[in-house]
Amino acid sequence: MGKELELEKTYIEDLYRVTTSLQKKDFVNKTEWKDFVPVIEDDTARFLQLILQMKKPVNILEIGTSIGFSATSMALTAREYGGTITTIEFDPTAAAQAKINFIRSEVDSIIQILEGDACQIVPELPDASFDFIFQDADKRIYPRLLKDCIRILRPGGILAVDDALFPVMDLDPKWSEQVEAVHIFNRLVADSSKLNSTLLPIGDGIIAAVKK
Ligand SMILES: C[S@@+](CC[C@H](N)C(=O)[O-])C[C@H]1O[C@@H](n2cnc3c(N)ncnc32)[C@H](O)[C@@H]1O
Repeated sequence: MGKELELEKTYIEDLYRVTTSLQKKDFVNKTEWKDFVPVIEDDTARFLQLILQMKKPVNILEIGTSIGFSATSMALTAREYGGTITTIEFDPTAAAQAKINFIRSEVDSIIQILEGDACQIVPELPDASFDFIFQDADKRIYPRLLKDCIRILRPGGILAVDDALFPVMDLDPKWSEQVEAVHIFNRLVADSSKLNSTLLPIGDGIIAAVKK
């Protein structure tokens, strides 16, 4: 990370250190299982909460639960207006830990975990059944699931996708397949006639799109 970007990140985190409702560091420290796929950054979590506060989506879908940090963070906002979250995870250890974390944060009553492969589950979900989708699973499935994500979103619904800046980040070459998939995905979203979108440099980059 460049020096200027590092300073920006530190500045932003210092600003919100006191008021952020759920800090990633605390959440991870309290999580018993440590061998999980990394979760979103605090600024990404705040951004998702902000969209939820603005749009108040009732039916929220998350693809990629891990230990449940992003789902818990969104749930803390969604429960204020009666929103519910469905989150998909195929790793049973991650799903079990997420359940423990949801109970600890007292948000388990509004989160349902679907255990299984998103590539099988998402195509089975009904048309226009979600107001908000947060995509954060394996990047290689982003392009494949885009059509279905658009199909299951209501018109006016929002698609938010993490790690959109992978193509310009200094990542280990072992991530090259993921990087390529994110680039293909970004192009598809930017060119889609069904979405209005922009890519924001929050966390590792987030594409936010509204279904027309
Ligand atoms: C980046 S982590 C999710 C982090 C989480 N959203 C958070 O910020 O708290 C990605 C998760 O997606 C899961 N995953 C990857 N591909 C999947 C698939 N095809 N179906 C279901 N889950 C998948 C992985 O097991 C991993 O736990």
